[in-house]
Amino acid sequence: MIRSYILIAVLIILADSNPVQVASKDWYKNSLVYQIYPRSFKDSNGDGIGDLNGITKNLVHVAEIGADVVWISTIFSSPQKDFGYDISNFTNINEEYGTLEDFNKLIEKARFLGIKVILDFVPNHSSDQHKWFNQSIHRIKPYDEYYIWRDAKYDEHQNRLPPNNWLSNFGGSAWQWNDIRKQYYLHQFAAGQPDLNYRNDELQEEMKNVLVFWMDRGVEGFRIDAINHMYEDDQFRDEPLSNIPGVPSDDYDFLNHIYTKNLPETYKVLESWRKLMDDQSPGNTKMILTEAYADFDLIIKYYLSGSTVPFNFMFISDLNNKSTAVDFKRSIDRWMNNVPNGTEYVANWVLGNHDNHRVASRFGEKRVDQLFMLVTILPGVSVIYNGDEIGMVDREFTYEETKDPAGCNAGPERYWLKSRDPERTPFQWNDGPNAGFSTSSSTWLPVNENYIHLNVEAQKYKAYSHYNILTRLIELKKKSVIEYGTLETALYCSKCSVTENVLGVVRRHRSYIVVLIVNFSDTEMIVVDIGMWLNISEPLRVYTSSKGSNLSPRQIVELRSFSLSASVSAVLTTPNLLN
Ligand code: GLC
Repeated sequence: MIRSYILIAVLIILADSNPVQVASKDWYKNSLVYQIYPRSFKDSNGDGIGDLNGITKNLVHVAEIGADVVWISTIFSSPQKDFGYDISNFTNINEEYGTLEDFNKLIEKARFLGIKVILDFVPNHSSDQHKWFNQSIHRIKPYDEYYIWRDAKYDEHQNRLPPNNWLSNFGGSAWQWNDIRKQYYLHQFAAGQPDLNYRNDELQEEMKNVLVFWMDRGVEGFRIDAINHMYEDDQFRDEPLSNIPGVPSDDYDFLNHIYTKNLPETYKVLESWRKLMDDQSPGNTKMILTEAYADFDLIIKYYLSGSTVPFNFMFISDLNNKSTAVDFKRSIDRWMNNVPNGTEYVANWVLGNHDNHRVASRFGEKRVDQLFMLVTILPGVSVIYNGDEIGMVDREFTYEETKDPAGCNAGPERYWLKSRDPERTPFQWNDGPNAGFSTSSSTWLPVNENYIHLNVEAQKYKAYSHYNILTRLIELKKKSVIEYGTLETALYCSKCSVTENVLGVVRRHRSYIVVLIVNFSDTEMIVVDIGMWLNISEPLRVYTSSKGSNLSPRQIVELRSFSLSASVSAVLTTPNLLN
């Protein structure tokens, strides 16, 4: 409530002063990025599908959380075979979502609220409905070489076969025959997503123009989709088998993708985009977030080619509800120790996204606050997926209900292993019809039934809620101790005989100290001598703690025997940080 009043007051002041965003080289370094999946965020016109006006009207929610940046997943013209990641016009808005005028209004509102807008940039492929593709099919120059075309192979019975064994991420061959051009085209994702050819200079220029188009419309950066798929081997060699047991031969994981992923040429193109963005707005850094599910060293390399946020997926790919305090510390330290030297480089921590199970489903509901604490207290950029702020969970889907091409293609036996529908259900605003997402009789994906008790409105007014804990943590994130403080990570063994079961994270700056303590034991209360362990003699108070803790906010803690219930985590600060 108080927060809403403050926000209204701020809005009134801002309305009076017509704010101008201050350009700065460093603005991104301690930012919170909030990802909106537009189809599921808010429907303003009652068709059961989220849209731009829905986002604009609800940007206040993003501001209230304390986000600095909103990354809006793809909103461009698209037949929606891969829900917007199949783009038929890179410089227009998908009709279901609105118009370019609506987009202008969104930018205006975001500016008013002091939020920067980042869009998806999908360079690897277009839709097969893009006009370039049609012209490519008909070999019209220069479009004939905009895509990756190859002749068929024929077996001894003259059966037509794809040029090599490459597989699509969504299952089956990555090659699709086109009967007009009489060649196969490459699609690393759905057949409706033909791969663009980055060995063609004209195509490279076209894609740069797309970036300029959106920067001219007020966009402050891009999340670059599937960047590590952009180049393929120019000799089109077969990929070796992965030999992962139990993987069917048409599954993407059946092969080891040495010729279709992470090719060194990718980094050069990224450098050219960084230069373009720097030239566009000298002195005001454009944010580049790069999406590459790849080996650690390859991800880290994106920093040096201009990525501000080479997505750190460790909380998604490396850690889960079985991970120990030791695993967490190892992953955190590895990232911190490998961020390149140089003041422009900062760490980043991704909590979730539209391609992976929800954080509350991956780690279990009782660990959600622990993950909030980590992504906000560790230094650098935090990336949060809409709905995670209230601990939304995956919804289970039947095969018949499944819409995601990755799930549909996997078939009735394996769809649940691949489908991304569970984490894409409509945003849960309140306990009204369709969780306040839409007034339609049906929504594009069903709303999770738990919305009755799990929704933003309910959580705002509860003393303890994921939402309130996260917003408090984000307030703390804005303090100098998080922005500039030193970092220590430490392990502790409380009543344990096998392995350390307590993780500590300490941030210090001048007289300020922030301490995060996580109890990894699911059964035991832990007792920690914080003073000895973390070398702290200043008094500490509870800033916030996760559900089930035996602590109350502002309580002074006993440094020599601090106790924390099973599975609980707590943030403690020196009293000068409490508000
Ligand atoms: C990225 C997107 C994903 C999409 C794929 C193909 O991984 O996040 O949603 O399906 O690229 O564009």
